[in-house]
Amino acid sequence: MNIMPLQIESEFGLPTANEAQLIVADLDAADAQQFMPLLSQEERCRASRYRSAVDRLRFTTARGLLRKWLGQFIGVRPGDLCFSYGPRGKPALASPLSDLRFNISHSKHLAAMAFTNGCEVGVDVELIRPDIDSKLLSQGFLSNQEASIVKQAPPKQQPEVFLHYWTRAEAIAKMLGTGLADREPTDDINPPNEGISPASVPKTVHVLRVGTQAIIALATSKPIQIIRASSFLSVNPSLFPPQPIPPPASAALHPS
Ligand SMILES: CC(C)(COP(=O)(O)OP(=O)(O)OC[C@H]1O[C@@H](n2cnc3c(N)ncnc32)[C@H](O)[C@@H]1OP(=O)(O)O)[C@@H](O)C(=O)NCCC(=O)NCCS
Repeated sequence: MNIMPLQIESEFGLPTANEAQLIVADLDAADAQQFMPLLSQEERCRASRYRSAVDRLRFTTARGLLRKWLGQFIGVRPGDLCFSYGPRGKPALASPLSDLRFNISHSKHLAAMAFTNGCEVGVDVELIRPDIDSKLLSQGFLSNQEASIVKQAPPKQQPEVFLHYWTRAEAIAKMLGTGLADREPTDDINPPNEGISPASVPKTVHVLRVGTQAIIALATSKPIQIIRASSFLSVNPSLFPPQPIPPPASAALHPS
């Protein structure tokens, strides 16, 4: 298997064909009201349907930021952008003026947005929380092989190992535009961070750690060589660029 070298750069810019732009933002660190005028009528309705005010504000900020950056990348006013939705809800630019693709994920206050040029992209972010009961969560969500690796990890590492596989599966499902119900059983226990799956849709997945805060997986339908990463709104810049992490392996977890 060919392993493409990956370069991580702390930069912001329109990704070229072999790059992805990853932006991580703290959704609670902005005044959500400033983004409200950028949202479409449908998005405002959706925001108003959130029962919790915190969720409403986070959705508004996430959509506002997404529009802002998409607009900046393709030179369109953020409020003029129109989205279309795939059969399972994946948003895309309705009339793409470019080959720009995007995907967004949030875990509580933290949002990750990924942009690619000319290939599909899926992203998933999860906060690393010690209260994740990996053994419980791994039942039914991970493949047997993945679950066994999670169980072999020292208890303190289990949440992170679980999240490695979890974010990976979510990012792939989101790249494909399906959903977790359709997630593929693992084909990727042992390949390194980058690997082309034998399935019909090619995919490359990178799993990154943002300091001790979060795990982010980024899946693309073409190999990428560079991830430009930038932080926004109170995410500690010292955590950037995020670090790629190799797939967990039983042997690596129990060094002799
Ligand atoms: C897509 C999916 C995996 C997202 O999971 P999640 O962990 O809850 O959410 P994340 O924060 O990672 O991602 C949410 C974002 O992904 C995007 N998204 C939604 N559906 C998507 C899909 N099918 N593929 C890719 N991206 C999708 C949206 O932008 C959404 O953000 P928004 O709600 O602010 O617009 C999950 O919602 C799913 O399986 N959806 C498929 C449809 C479905 O089966 N729905 C029934 C659920 S009961």
